[in-house]
Amino acid sequence: MKKIFCAALTAIMVLAVTAVPSFAAEYTPYWSKWTKTISLDMFPDCGVNVLGAGGDDILQETVDTYCGVKPGGYIGYVNPKVMDIYKKKGKKYPDGKLSVLVFKKIGATFTTDIVNGQPVYDVVAIADGKSIASKDKGHPLNPETCATCHLTSQKGVCAKHGFVCGNRM
Ligand code: HEC
Repeated sequence: MKKIFCAALTAIMVLAVTAVPSFAAEYTPYWSKWTKTISLDMFPDCGVNVLGAGGDDILQETVDTYCGVKPGGYIGYVNPKVMDIYKKKGKKYPDGKLSVLVFKKIGATFTTDIVNGQPVYDVVAIADGKSIASKDKGHPLNPETCATCHLTSQKGVCAKHGFVCGNRM
């Protein structure tokens, strides 16, 4: 009798464990209800000059950095809790999740969080929110590359806006 009970219990446990992935598939990105800000329908190909089309130097640098990744268009979102600061082009954001840039075609999202007043960059999968950032030095998807541009490029134009770039113009 005891053995049968154990076998039944094991069977239930196995079922429970195998059932978990179907729950995981229903991941809802934390930015799904955030406020839409910037967007670009089609990411320019390598060699395209965006300055003539109203782009600035930092956008040109961004195109040159990511054209090889062929990321497709993007949509930016900002956490509604800090939307007022974003609209006023504020210099400082509170700790927490700040903004994302969603690249649907490659299933990736660029994320900016503020931790202890400093920006933390990452690349996560849209499907499950797990980090898919690169650890290779100089790689376009390495958080160090994000930080270099958002902190220092074009005389720190983004750093002056609390490390976000989309409201710089
Ligand atoms: C060469 C410069 C450059 C690099 C490298 C770069 N960004 Fe950006 N980022 C920009 C610019 C410029 C914008 C605004 C684009 C626009 O105006 O359409 C932006 C926008 C964003 C946004 C939207 C919110 C906002 O307005 O700031 C996020 C989030 C973001 N970047 C995160 C990242 C992450 C994460 C990486 C690295 C994986 C990265 N960025 C790499 C220049 C860069």
